Amino acid sequence: MKKLLIFGGRLLEGEVRISGAKNAVLPIMAASLLTDEDCIIENVPQLSDVFTMMKLLSSLGKKLVLDKNTLIIKSTSKKNYIAPYQLVKTMRASFCVLGPLLAKFKKAKVSLPGGCVIGVRPVDLHLKGLKLLGAKIKISSGYVEARCSSLKGNSIFLEGPFGPSVTATENILMASVLAKGTTLIENASCEPEVVDLVSFLKKMGAKIEGEGSAWIRVKGVDSLGGAYHKVIPDRIETGTFIMASLITGGKVVIKDCNPHHLTAVIEKLKEAGAKIKFSSNCIQIYPSKLQGVNITTHPYPGFPTDLQAQFMSLMCVSRGVSVIKEDVFPDRFMHVPELNRMGAKIKREGPYAIVEGVSSFSPAPVVASDLRASAALVLAGLNAKGRTEVQRIYHLERGYENLHKKLQKLGAKVRIVE
Ligand code: UD1
Repeated sequence: MKKLLIFGGRLLEGEVRISGAKNAVLPIMAASLLTDEDCIIENVPQLSDVFTMMKLLSSLGKKLVLDKNTLIIKSTSKKNYIAPYQLVKTMRASFCVLGPLLAKFKKAKVSLPGGCVIGVRPVDLHLKGLKLLGAKIKISSGYVEARCSSLKGNSIFLEGPFGPSVTATENILMASVLAKGTTLIENASCEPEVVDLVSFLKKMGAKIEGEGSAWIRVKGVDSLGGAYHKVIPDRIETGTFIMASLITGGKVVIKDCNPHHLTAVIEKLKEAGAKIKFSSNCIQIYPSKLQGVNITTHPYPGFPTDLQAQFMSLMCVSRGVSVIKEDVFPDRFMHVPELNRMGAKIKREGPYAIVEGVSSFSPAPVVASDLRASAALVLAGLNAKGRTEVQRIYHLERGYENLHKKLQKLGAKVRIVE
């Protein structure tokens, strides 16, 4: 199994370019099921999650070619409406094929994604929305079997115990674009990735308004065509590089990003004392002395849960105490014991982590548990003087394109070993 070796304690300096957003490209790829025409998607990051979605779409009858960062999706005469457990269990975003399959073929059989290390992750909101559009849904042998004679627009209120759901909003959007009449999704997710999916759907011919707000209105159309689209920059990768620069005391210029998708994060970092400048697509980070600040994760535009672990690493080596509350996935704290093994002082109490700042991390062998927790360990390793070994880096490869190469270009001493 591959490991990442980090010889930490070096400043990061230079420029880094941000890749396309994983969480935007995956539902956009799923949306290609809504048409028989060609789709061309640019700025597609080469990630294992993208390869998994390519395998899934190819098993559903698409022909896909990824050349550098351009993905071409074509239809074949083969049609299949079953998304198997082997693919869905490795990546929850595979569940996003349910809505488009149902809309296009009037039937779909998609494996339930099951549990996840970051906590219980039900799909009740996805199913509630699809039922309100007229689908008959049965759960059998671990699969969701959905059928309909036709889908009909409806009002759907998406409120779970921890707010709306990003992929449920996307699944319902992709089902409603071909439904008869008008659908109103209330309390929809406002994430930039949802807006990017809507922008792709509109290019295919969908009639949608209100994206980026909590009310999205969809007027169903009879059919959709192919489309060309460039995926937005990955805001979580951007945030990770901001924090990598700060945790090493470095000076990094982050290019091809969208700072406006990270307002909550940049504001918090400024409150902590970070020296940050930005323009429309570029962020500059300067060496800064940081003070602990408190955060609570929220759906967009709040502080993203996908940057909570990385922010915690930064707070571990900032002055004073910070309290981090996780309000989206209250059990998403798998990184805490590993960070403590590297010398951090973190106490976990329910959905809170209380972090007492120390002067620096100390190097250690650590095990990555999930994608963003792995990124937090890499940040800690970059800060720790000496050799840190991060095991199970396949998690990182799910969501960061060429992370070790980008870090090497910034002067970090990192390498992958088998
Ligand atoms: C998406 C992102 C993930 C991010 C998360 C929250 C993708 C591919 N993944 O995941 O990186 O961490 O948003 O920003 O875009 N919930 C329910 N019932 C449901 C669905 C969700 O109760 O039917 C709960 C979840 O358990 C969680 C909260 O709602 O507590 C938000 O989850 P959700 O927005 O659905 O996350 P995902 O879409 O799975």
